[in-house]
Amino acid sequence: MNLNRVLTLNEFIIERQSEFPYAKGELSRLLSHIGIASKIVHREVNKAGLVDILGEIGEMNVQGEIQKKLDVFADEQFISALMASGECCGIASEENQDIITFDGELAKDGKYIVTMDPLDGSSNIDVNVSIGTIFAIYRRLSPIGHKAKLEDFLQEGTKQVAAGYIIYGSSTMMVYTTGRGVNGFTLDPSIGEFCLSHYNIQTPQNGSIYSINEGNYIKFPEGVKRYLKYCQENDEETNRPFSSRYIGSLVADFHRNLLKGGIFLYPSTATYPKGKLRLLYECNPISYLAEQAGGKATDGRGRRILDIKPDSLHQRVPFYVGSRQMVERAEDLIIQYEKEINGK
Ligand code: AHG
Ligand code: MN
Ligand code: MN
Repeated sequence: MNLNRVLTLNEFIIERQSEFPYAKGELSRLLSHIGIASKIVHREVNKAGLVDILGEIGEMNVQGEIQKKLDVFADEQFISALMASGECCGIASEENQDIITFDGELAKDGKYIVTMDPLDGSSNIDVNVSIGTIFAIYRRLSPIGHKAKLEDFLQEGTKQVAAGYIIYGSSTMMVYTTGRGVNGFTLDPSIGEFCLSHYNIQTPQNGSIYSINEGNYIKFPEGVKRYLKYCQENDEETNRPFSSRYIGSLVADFHRNLLKGGIFLYPSTATYPKGKLRLLYECNPISYLAEQAGGKATDGRGRRILDIKPDSLHQRVPFYVGSRQMVERAEDLIIQYEKEINGK
């Protein structure tokens, strides 16, 4: 008889709770609710290809309900799940201009706030390519019993108490950290449960994949161009040339590089002088996961992403994340180039 039983996400969360003696289960409940919402989004993502035969987005469906765009649907699912958890007093979402605060008696007492990108890689929905959800959880700074305030959301990434993503790929997975390593759970659709499949993920210190939108080459800073040339050079010892892999969904690109080793770059470009990716919804949670798995995340100029004090909700930042040695090499070349042109 095989006594090796699968461990579900909820069992794992409860087991881990004992590692936080001060916690009374609030964070566990919050994570469980995120897990539930993601299963509903998973169900809709899986039906996305049927939209053309079941009706266009914006049209009435058979129940007489207006069909929503998937990113709006995901946004609403996560907001209602977090509100229902009673542990969260507000949300900042990439889909909404301002913070959303919960006024209900229960939710006002919530100790946590959440920042999220409800659907990451949305341009990939229509072509059946992996997309994701990214979230980060912080303790609120404003007093319990009152509405959440903007300052609750403008905290450094180092203040995250948990962060993770859901990838809706060939399998749906939830990967998260509470600051004690990174664990991954694969959804078994036949039982509707996330099951522990990737225990204590450690990312390779070095790799041979680089991920960047190379179509923007002409718009990159010269130091980045120099690094790309380095990636493409022939050198057996360092396994170069590296492979170029770019999906265009941060979650999917990061997930692959996390498991295989690699670097993801979204530098500043002529179009996005501050980079394209959002500090609160994308870069902070991904950086926390990267560091917890032994990797590194910076702005490409020696500044750790998690140390940046945000000054606005939708702030963008250049993003370099992945295997430690690869991120360090990229930064060395970029900084060295800048010194050279400045004549130092
Ligand atoms: P979102 O779909 O949430 O707007 O995010 C898209 C992001 C990110 O997932 C991806 O890495 C990046 O945009 C791709 O940008 P480019 O198309 O400019 O390469
Ligand atoms: Mn995104
Ligand atoms: Mn998005």
